[in-house]
Amino acid sequence: MPWRTLDNVPVQGKRVLLRADLNVPMREGQIGDLTRLERLTPTIRELADAGARVIIASHFARPKGKPVPEMSLRPVAAALEQVLGHPVAFAEDTVGEAAAAAVARLQDGDVLVLENTRFHPGEEANDTALAEALALHADLYVNDAFSAAHRAHASTEGVARLLPAHAGRLMQAELEALDAALTDPERPAAAIIGGAKISTKLELIGNVSRRVDLLVIGGAMANTFLAAQGLPMGKSLQELDMHATALDMLAMAKDAGCEVILPRDLVVAREFREGAPSEVVPAGAVPADTMALDIGPETVRDIEARLPGIRTLVWNGPVGAFETPPFDQATNALARAVAEATAAGRLRSVAGGGDTVAALRHAGVMDEFSYVSTAGGAFLEWLEGKALPGVQVLQDIGRAIGIGG
Ligand code: 3PG
Ligand code: MG
Repeated sequence: MPWRTLDNVPVQGKRVLLRADLNVPMREGQIGDLTRLERLTPTIRELADAGARVIIASHFARPKGKPVPEMSLRPVAAALEQVLGHPVAFAEDTVGEAAAAAVARLQDGDVLVLENTRFHPGEEANDTALAEALALHADLYVNDAFSAAHRAHASTEGVARLLPAHAGRLMQAELEALDAALTDPERPAAAIIGGAKISTKLELIGNVSRRVDLLVIGGAMANTFLAAQGLPMGKSLQELDMHATALDMLAMAKDAGCEVILPRDLVVAREFREGAPSEVVPAGAVPADTMALDIGPETVRDIEARLPGIRTLVWNGPVGAFETPPFDQATNALARAVAEATAAGRLRSVAGGGDTVAALRHAGVMDEFSYVSTAGGAFLEWLEGKALPGVQVLQDIGRAIGIGG
């Protein structure tokens, strides 16, 4: 890997600024999902056990450069303490006197969470003064926030240039998994791409179709592809202004030698609500007063039949309206099939981005893929083939000191 990890780094007695992603989902004032905190614990434990003073910096929500009480990291720090089973102190500010005093109180092995970096306008502006103020806290910098690495902010990018910078264990695992899945995948490689809109996934589909041998398109965006081919789609959600683009994308995939599987049958309903009566129809026979809400069982069987020949699979986006049963069936069935192929040792499966974690959790297979990233936007930008500033800076530094390629 062309960046420094935590291997062979003496941290005893050192102040380590750890950029984490504590941006956990909230539901009615409660933390909705602890996965991001759980994933951080190996790095925090490793550092604390080795005698580092761990100073955690993170953004939380989008306060836009000023303190917003409901966006304080204080309750998240308390949740982290629970998950970690180790005391976690909290500093009222990210930088400045209150933060410096909290840092000065740390003993070796202690853990501190600083207040939301985005309470300062310099964070999103990647302002040097804020990066310098953060750097004052520490002797070295560890970035464990792959999911925030698509942001060139003071705590993800600027400060990495001011302190010896390393990838944390979560960042390392994430980059290794993603690298193995798309940069140099074992072939044949496939991707399942779902979600509602082609317009948000143009670059993603373009990049992925150049890198995999088989591309499965599901979700409402499949409707647009089918409609573009002249099939009647009834009242289905689709992007009328994307038909030409959809045809171009299919032609590009063909030129790149990537086979595209579009649904050949669909689950349709007259209303979109939980438990609505539904029927399976061939693509091309969607009744005018219905909408497609899931891919059909024949299509699922086609994909399942292809899985034994696939070595690497990337999944982004549900293939149906999984939050509203019964339109979760194809997503559930495919998720289970991928989990089984993974368990049998035949397949490396990597998933992430947006709704994907929720869909896989709903299907009950969260722990059964080779890797499920909790990154949203960062995972999508990585699938688009973009350089992520927070990763790029670690690579630049790694190259400058002569590690990796
Ligand atoms: C995320 O939740 O995707 C990351 O924490 C980044 O958050 P942002 O989209 O507000 O930058
Ligand atoms: Mg986001």
